[in-house]
Amino acid sequence: MRKELGSLGAVIAAAAAATAAAALVVGCGGGGSGGGGGGLSQEDQAALVAQGQQIFRFDTFGDEAQWSDKLRMHEVVGTAVSPEAALAVGLKVDAQALPAAVVQGIQDGSIDLKSPATTVALLKLDAVVGLKGTVETVGGKDALTRLGVTCALCHSTVDNSFAPGIGKRLDGWPNRDLDPGAIIALSPALDAARKAVYLSWGKGKYDPRFNIDGLSKPVVIPPAYGLEGIHSVTFTGDGTDIAYWNRYVAVTQMGGQGSFTDVRLNLSITNGTVDLVTSKLPALQAYQLSLKAPPAPAGSFDAAAAARGRLVFEGAGKCVTCHSGALFTDANSMLHPPGDSMAEPEVPSYAARSATRMYRTSPLRGVWQHAPYFHDGSAATLEDVASTYNTRQSLGLSPQQISDLAQYLKAQ
Ligand code: HEC
Ligand code: HEC
Repeated sequence: MRKELGSLGAVIAAAAAATAAAALVVGCGGGGSGGGGGGLSQEDQAALVAQGQQIFRFDTFGDEAQWSDKLRMHEVVGTAVSPEAALAVGLKVDAQALPAAVVQGIQDGSIDLKSPATTVALLKLDAVVGLKGTVETVGGKDALTRLGVTCALCHSTVDNSFAPGIGKRLDGWPNRDLDPGAIIALSPALDAARKAVYLSWGKGKYDPRFNIDGLSKPVVIPPAYGLEGIHSVTFTGDGTDIAYWNRYVAVTQMGGQGSFTDVRLNLSITNGTVDLVTSKLPALQAYQLSLKAPPAPAGSFDAAAAARGRLVFEGAGKCVTCHSGALFTDANSMLHPPGDSMAEPEVPSYAARSATRMYRTSPLRGVWQHAPYFHDGSAATLEDVASTYNTRQSLGLSPQQISDLAQYLKAQ
């Protein structure tokens, strides 16, 4: 395998060229508002998007300071986490980053997926989605000496085209298999009490405020696609553009080098002495805004029922009062009191921990893709969503109407 790694450079260069070309195509469709590149030529906009893709996938903003220096994750991942164990906690492998010899080795079993050394080899290939490792030769062997995380960790998955957990990247799709808490709990630097909190979160959830306010009630990892035209981000509408939240996550959660300040949260954090975040925000935002919500797969819903469900959505269900317009949200004009969330009341209230203390009406494009629903993931299916509204808001819908409404949601 060592020999094959020599051809790596060529493979990665080819992959980069292919993704840059794809980004160009995506970029051409843009030109909408808030792209972070207002007034840019089409070419410059495309370049910004391509740059943003690299940042989204591969940039750690220097967060190795948190994941390696503080949490010492490289020690565990580099010696004790096999690819099988990594896949089991929801980490994904980018099949396109694998040279042909590695693909063949996985297929014929000559590459050992039970060996932590294989994980190190995959990290060296930049093939583990959302993890960025530095691999150096120590005593004649490859060793993982630093580890950081990128945005893709939580907001990308793969299409499983090669094997479960291994396939082409799907950026913007929330990784609902990922168990971030279980991953963090592997750190040898945490005490038992803190580990217990992280282990309580479960798959597809993360609490982006636990390390700030000490409370623990995770939210589902949301999609990072379909946000073009929505000037209110996060479940609670904390920021008016993606860059606000990107800075929040990069600095306060990932541990990237830079600053975040918000007087509403009484929060001001600076990591390190150089700013590795600010200059990347425009490109990062442009890339995210280029990510369209995926259309519902053909045959995944009943079209006739969905047509009837639309009438329920706009009529007896009263959904359209809040889920209005092409993006199915009134987020650009208002936020809602906690009681308007079907996941409230909850303890602690997620809204109460946010900057706005309110909820944003969730946009529904691509909603078929990312079960479970509501910020706490309390509705397992779109049928559950429809019947929850029916009960909680005494809508008086018939079982048929509830089922039609769910089909309509599945079509978005
Ligand atoms: C450890 C997992 C994790 C990582 C890493 C992460 N996020 Fe998130 N992200 C979340 C969670 C959880 C939320 C939901 C928070 C909320 O809405 O209150 C979120 C929310 C968002 C949103 C808001 C989406 C919406 O509907 O408004 C965007 C945009 C986003 N993240 C982008 C990013 C970017 C860019 C990065 C890298 C700088 C990043 N995230 C890194 C977990 C993560
Ligand atoms: C009063 C405003 C309001 C009305 C009316 C309303 N919603 Fe919502 N909807 C929201 C808010 C706010 C959220 C976010 C709640 C949360 O995450 O806790 C939401 C979330 C959702 C979600 C979850 C999306 C996700 O990404 O998890 C779905 C699906 C949904 N609503 C469908 C409906 C349907 C169907 C109806 C009609 C029966 C409806 N809504 C009526 C405000 C409303």
